[in-house]
Amino acid sequence: MTIQKRKIVSLDQPTARDIKHPTWSVSDVHGQYSYSNPHADLYLYLSQWSDMESYLNVGYSKPGQYHLHTNAHLRLINRLADGLLDLHAAGPYAAENHLLDVASGRGGAAIHARRRYGLQVTGVDITPYNAHRADDNARRQEVWPEVRFNIGDSTRLPLADASFPLVWSIESPAHFPDKRGFLKEVARVLKPGAAFTFADLLVVDRAATASEENRQIYREFLRVWDVPYLETFDSYKQTLAEVGLKLCRTEIVTRYNLDILNRDCVLFLWLSKPKWLYNGYKRYLKWRAGANLDNVYQHVLGSHRALRLGMIDYGLFWAVRV
Ligand SMILES: C[S@@+](CC[C@H](N)C(=O)[O-])C[C@H]1O[C@@H](n2cnc3c(N)ncnc32)[C@H](O)[C@@H]1O
Repeated sequence: MTIQKRKIVSLDQPTARDIKHPTWSVSDVHGQYSYSNPHADLYLYLSQWSDMESYLNVGYSKPGQYHLHTNAHLRLINRLADGLLDLHAAGPYAAENHLLDVASGRGGAAIHARRRYGLQVTGVDITPYNAHRADDNARRQEVWPEVRFNIGDSTRLPLADASFPLVWSIESPAHFPDKRGFLKEVARVLKPGAAFTFADLLVVDRAATASEENRQIYREFLRVWDVPYLETFDSYKQTLAEVGLKLCRTEIVTRYNLDILNRDCVLFLWLSKPKWLYNGYKRYLKWRAGANLDNVYQHVLGSHRALRLGMIDYGLFWAVRV
């Protein structure tokens, strides 16, 4: 009799959620958004086309729409806001208009929420540079104090229970070390039946864990973006349900932003090949935007390697507090 050897497959196979940026700390996030680590050079580079002192998200563009522009950020914000306000209008607090913006960055989205939708907005962000810049932007655009900002942590919001009829968080949870803790906080500060939306980067499990080389590429992606780890689409769905947030709608919009970003990365890397061109542009970029092209190059390369292999998706979620 022959005994067949069976390969034993562990049920505890590490998933992409278990892959962490090994040295991440919150000071990396502060560095990226306060122009004090090399990853901030990407924002200086992008400031040639977009208002990066107001908007820090990757945007949203349909074919034919120009992406490297402030309008791309606004299209993403409008998409989230329209879905949020539909839920709000059908909910129990339709007459209230106070929005909490978790990780509000430099305030562009919150100010837009006031201008376009007439909302009162409280923003909270962990990076002092961003919170101060946002407050300054609100004052200069004459929407303060209806739009105001505080320094605070998304996983310990300095706000009362059941105090908001509307909450959003735009492309920020990626940076949070405890995304479940963040969602629990959102559920805590939302009034029962109130509406919530968020946008975030998601790791695609199979692509990120397919080989050791892929895992390494994925870790490098986390490193260049100062991200501790990413959730998957399914892990977010599960956590939302567990913390008492009923998911109403989701969208994966990768092709309207990250795929476009990747095409820009390909062009950037191709144009970087001739040494004379790279060196000339390096001098120009330093003079024009204060950015170091070598840092931008590392950021673009680390992003492109992961994006090209389909490791990262971009998800939008709309939910209501149970
Ligand atoms: C990619 S930016 C997005 C900002 C803004 N939502 C926008 O769309 O322009 C991410 C923001 O998250 C903030 N952030 C990161 N970790 C945070 C935390 N634990 N609590 C609050 N804010 C945080 C950063 O300071 C940064 O402003």
